[in-house]
Amino acid sequence: MSPSQNVSVLFLLHFLALIAFTLQTAVTRMSAENEMSKKNSSISAFFVFGDSTVDAGNNNYIETISRSNFPPYGKDLPDHIATGRFTNGKLVTDFLSSYAGIKDLIPPYLDPTLTVDDLVTGVCFASAGTGFDPLTAQINVVIPIQNQLKYFEDYKSRMEVEIGKEKTRRLISKALFIVSAGTNDFMVNYYGPMQIRSRTYNISSYQDFILQQALQLAQALLKTGAKKIAFVGLPPIGCVPAVITVNSDNALTHRGCIQRFSAVARRYNTLLQVKLAALQNQITPAAAVLYVDIYNPIDLMVRNPQRFGFENVNLGCCGSGMVEFSVLCNSYSSVCSDDSKYLFWDSVHPTQAAYYSVYLGLRPVIDRFMKD
Ligand SMILES: *[C@@H]1O[C@H](CO)[C@@H](O)[C@H](O)[C@H]1NC(C)=O
Ligand SMILES: *[C@@H]1O[C@H](CO)[C@@H](O)[C@H](O)[C@H]1NC(C)=O
Repeated sequence: MSPSQNVSVLFLLHFLALIAFTLQTAVTRMSAENEMSKKNSSISAFFVFGDSTVDAGNNNYIETISRSNFPPYGKDLPDHIATGRFTNGKLVTDFLSSYAGIKDLIPPYLDPTLTVDDLVTGVCFASAGTGFDPLTAQINVVIPIQNQLKYFEDYKSRMEVEIGKEKTRRLISKALFIVSAGTNDFMVNYYGPMQIRSRTYNISSYQDFILQQALQLAQALLKTGAKKIAFVGLPPIGCVPAVITVNSDNALTHRGCIQRFSAVARRYNTLLQVKLAALQNQITPAAAVLYVDIYNPIDLMVRNPQRFGFENVNLGCCGSGMVEFSVLCNSYSSVCSDDSKYLFWDSVHPTQAAYYSVYLGLRPVIDRFMKD
C-alpha cells in the first residue's frame, strides 16, 4: 500500500466512524423520544384477569389440560411460538397494549423468567377455563378469578419491594385493569354436561350470582388502588361453533346460532351495565369502571361476514372446526388454508383476524382511559 492509499484508507475509516456516530446519536435520540411518547401515555401498565379470551399462557405453569402451548396455536405470532394464547396470534388485550404504547405482548404472571421491567408495564393473571363462579375453575382445574386477585396482591407486594410503595401506588392508579370472563360459568358449568349449578339455581338466579361475583371482583380491585377498570361483557355465546355443534338438531347442516344461549348473554350484559353504572356512581375518590361491549362487534361479524373478509363464521379453522379446541386442536389437526377468512380459530375461540376487528372497535375505550 502506498502512503497516499494509507491516508485515504484512514480518511475513509474516519468518515465511516463519523457516519456511524451520527446514526447512533440519531437512533438514541429517536428511541429516547419513543420512550417519552410512551411515558406520555397516561396508562402505565395493563393488568388482565379472566379466562381464555385473555389468558396469555398462565395455564402452561399449572397442572391442567386446559392448554394451548403447542402448534398450531400461535402460528401467526412473531416466531410462530405457541405461548398458551388460545388463538393463532395476538389477543385483543395485546393489540390494546400496543396501541397504548406499552408493549406488544402482555406476559403471563406465572412465567418465572419475568424481569422487573416486564412486571412494571403489566402482566396477565388470566387462566383459560375459569369463571366468576369458583366452582367453574374447579371443574376445569384452573385458577379461580378470586385467586387471580391474590396473585395481583402478591405482585403488588413484590413491586413495593422492587420500586417502593409510592411508585407502586402510582403505577396501580395509572394502570388499566381488564376483566373478561363469564362464558364458562354458563357454558361449562350451568349448561355443561354435568349441569352442576342448574341443580340449585334457575338461570336468572345464576345470572344474579355471577353478577354478584363480578361486582365483588370490581370492588376488590378498587380497594387495591385501581382507578381504571374495563369490564368486558359476554359474547353471543350461542354462536360459538362448539355450542352450535352440541345444541343443533343437525350439527353438520344446521349451523345457525343457538338463540336461547345468546339471549342469556344479552340479559347478563344488560344487568352488568346497570350494576357497573351503580358502582361508578358510588365510587369515591374518582375512578372509572367501564363496561366493554364485545357482544355487538362479534354479532355483527356473524351477521355480515363479507364486511370483515370472513368466509366462515360457524366453524373453527382447526380440525373439523366443530369440536376441536385446546388439546383436541394439536399438531395432528388439519388447519384451514387462510385463517384470516375465519371468525373462529378453534371451535371456541376467535381468530387473530376477528380479535383485530374487535380491537379496532375498542380503541375509543383506551382513548377514554388515556384522558384521565
Ligand atoms: C402527550 O402527547 C399528546 C400527543 O402526542 C400531546 O397532545 C399531549 O400534550 C402530550 N401530553 C403531555 C402531558 O405531554
Ligand atoms: C328463580 O329463583 C328465584 C330465587 O331462587 C325465584 O325468586 C324466582 O322466582 C325464580 N325464577 C323463575 C323464573 O323460576
